[in-house]
Amino acid sequence: MSTWVSIDGVVAPGAEARISVFDRGFLYGDSVYEVLRTVERRPLFWADHVARLWTSAALLEFHLDFGPDDLLAEVRATLARVAEGESSIRVVVTRGTGPLSPDPALAGTPTRVVIVQPLKLPGAELVGSGCTLVTFAIGGRGEGGVDPRVKSGSNVQAVLAAARAHAAGAYEALRVDVHGRVFEGASSTFFLVCDGALLTPPLGAGILEGITRRKVLRLAAEALLPTREAEVHLADFAHAQEAFITSSTRGIVPVRRVDDHVFGPPGPVTQRLLAGYADLIRTSVV
Ligand SMILES: Cc1ncc(COP(=O)(O)O)c(C=O)c1O
Repeated sequence: MSTWVSIDGVVAPGAEARISVFDRGFLYGDSVYEVLRTVERRPLFWADHVARLWTSAALLEFHLDFGPDDLLAEVRATLARVAEGESSIRVVVTRGTGPLSPDPALAGTPTRVVIVQPLKLPGAELVGSGCTLVTFAIGGRGEGGVDPRVKSGSNVQAVLAAARAHAAGAYEALRVDVHGRVFEGASSTFFLVCDGALLTPPLGAGILEGITRRKVLRLAAEALLPTREAEVHLADFAHAQEAFITSSTRGIVPVRRVDDHVFGPPGPVTQRLLAGYADLIRTSVV
């Protein structure tokens, strides 16, 4: 058995896990979620993920009837079923079940789901050579929609972006807009390295505040690498030497190419951050 699921504290094999069709997560994408990984079989950066989950839930005015420690106990109970190896953990909280009406006042109590699967890290070959991204002119998140700080289950744009990447044979789609502004990957944060300095879009651009983003910016500051959170434009690629993406389950993944622009194999700044991040996660588990 490789997938285990906890629903409201009851753990079952993944194939047996069921929730109601009246759950608002299913009906309206009325849910928030986090994705994290284990290191030494313990959740990595749990405090950061739980804080972001609670922020997401507060921004959508969920009334949570449980606390972070209850959730951590359920994550640990689910992980306890895993025989070996590291896991990826998806925690989903929905507003609960209710009648067929979007009115949140009619919802019951929140549903908690924890899905634990074997962690699939990017292979050494991919990290060694760098991945390929394809741009997708869909704009930033949050434009007229859900606040970009919310990690929301209402995420069909990521599905479209993934379809675009798949069709192009790319590793991930990079969200841009018609003006060539660069936002983030479908499920990752985007960084450029320009003359030894890190450049990444600011939170105000309408991106998710990635937890790996925060860790990488801190690592860079500790290494005295200059960092700049500023608007990124496709035209900036011409004077960038390196690029990489980050996410909780993939860490840092060097980018070799975006559309027709080739950055080449991972450069010295990316290599240095890869090493720093590997050290950080070894010493950060709860
Ligand atoms: C839109 C988006 N941006 C960035 C990220 C990376 O965030 P984190 O580093 O917290 O995993 C994700 C992760 O799923 C995401 O969905």
